[in-house]
Amino acid sequence: MSDFPARFKEAVGSGTVLVQAPGIRESVQAFARSVAAGLSDEPKWLHYRFLYDAEGSRLFEEITRQPEYYPTRTEADILAEHAEEIQRLTGPVTLVELGSGYSVKTEYLLSAYSRYDEPVRYVPVDVSGSALLAASRSIAESFSDVDFTGINGTYRSAFPVLRQLSPQMLIFLGSSIGNFNEAETTSFWRSVTDHLPAGDFFLLGVDLVKDADVLEAAYNDAAGVTARFTRNYFARINRELGAALDLTQIEHQAIWNPALERIEIYARFISDQQLHVEPLDQTFEIRGGERIMIEISRKHRLPKLQRELAAFGFDLRHVFSDGKKWFALLLLERTDDAQQRAAYPPATR
Ligand code: AVI
Repeated sequence: MSDFPARFKEAVGSGTVLVQAPGIRESVQAFARSVAAGLSDEPKWLHYRFLYDAEGSRLFEEITRQPEYYPTRTEADILAEHAEEIQRLTGPVTLVELGSGYSVKTEYLLSAYSRYDEPVRYVPVDVSGSALLAASRSIAESFSDVDFTGINGTYRSAFPVLRQLSPQMLIFLGSSIGNFNEAETTSFWRSVTDHLPAGDFFLLGVDLVKDADVLEAAYNDAAGVTARFTRNYFARINRELGAALDLTQIEHQAIWNPALERIEIYARFISDQQLHVEPLDQTFEIRGGERIMIEISRKHRLPKLQRELAAFGFDLRHVFSDGKKWFALLLLERTDDAQQRAAYPPATR
């Protein structure tokens, strides 16, 4: 049994900047098993979470600054414009952010919530300890009254401590929800519903369905940063799993799938290659022309999303969007309805 909730409770308000959640470091064995599982399947796939090693996280930051990648700056503009209204709607609450990274966009919210007399409690959750430390320094410089306690862990590691943080607003920005497949989405909302007390808020950033040209350009930037992000997956496999892939023979492809309303990111192998997973002593053959799916980025339509969220026990309090309706921030309130729990959408896997 983990002592994490107790350690976290002691840390909050004590000036401790970072609390380490259990099980944060995935072993090389876990990476190897995930790669082997995806490459044994037909068609082949790789799990997107392994895109984010140190180099992958750095490349993602660079992607967010590309002119074609509109989600980050559009969401930041919405936050800049509406942070005070969000604050008025929720009243004083603890801000808990899943996947906070460097907390850059969150500073708009911290600024709005700092208008109360009491200190603002901010609990960012991220797998990158260095990003949390950098965020704590930057926030300390700009806001003297923010009580910062970072959780260095996965999204899930924060769920057991949510009850002690109520009243709160859970924040999940960047349309990261779009990278989950159906089973992961269901499991995520089930966990949130199980741990977030009624009356608490959820601020969700979602990317919306739009022209295919705009979407495909965002994932095929002209400077080739997203292509490097894709290729880094295989560089990581070489580095950590002892493979010897020729990265020059791997192409990045990002394609809009209109039927499933999602961007699909593939690595296309130009020529035949062998991928040896040393920790498992297994070799996989990849044919020239074969594509391996490494990430999906689902785009949303608000009416459907609202129905799905209602089924998980959330009321939509407000939608904030930009002039082009490209991105939306949803302010949700967790309802207290036992019947809604019974009506959970069934798990798909
Ligand atoms: C992190 N996530 C929301 C990004 C997205 O837009 O789906 C990941 C990404 N992959 C390539 N470009 C951006």
